[in-house]
Amino acid sequence: MKLRPLFLAAALTGLAAGAVTAAEPQEVREGLMKKIGGSMGALSAMAKGQKPFDADLVKASLTTISTSIKAFPDQFPAGSEANSEASPKIWENKADFDAKAASLAADADMVLAQLPADPAALGLAIGKLGPHCGDCHQVYRLKK
Ligand code: HEC
Repeated sequence: MKLRPLFLAAALTGLAAGAVTAAEPQEVREGLMKKIGGSMGALSAMAKGQKPFDADLVKASLTTISTSIKAFPDQFPAGSEANSEASPKIWENKADFDAKAASLAADADMVLAQLPADPAALGLAIGKLGPHCGDCHQVYRLKK
């Protein structure tokens, strides 16, 4: 089977990223995005003062975004187009897709290197990371 090594690699990456026992790349990549979404939600609640500012949670959330988006582009083996919101354009323009993921990873790492120490600084950091989400989703995520 030609696809086997790709699926195995995806499964191993998923395990390394802390995913449960998800074997399907669709589940792995959706799980990674859910983690990213949850982390952005946690950061945004602290920036808006809806939750108390927690420096440890800021660092943990940013770390989750960084590691998840780095693992994300590896979860698109050929044949995993079905049953997902992933646009076929991902497979047509994989280099551009990868570059968008790398760009978010770079900004997440930049924020991690100079951790926001209060809600205002956190708000600025979110302003840096947030646009990456829509920028990629607009082109590469199918609307349900
Ligand atoms: C490089 C492209 C890219 C970037 C950057 C990106 N996403 Fe996504 N996102 C996707 C794709 C593709 C899907 C659909 C995945 C699938 O269904 O297989 C998705 C799906 C999601 C989902 C739905 C997961 C589910 O199925 O329940 C959430 C939530 C999400 N993204 C949040 C975010 C947030 C928040 C950011 C920014 C911090 C972000 N994404 C950045 C490409 C991206």
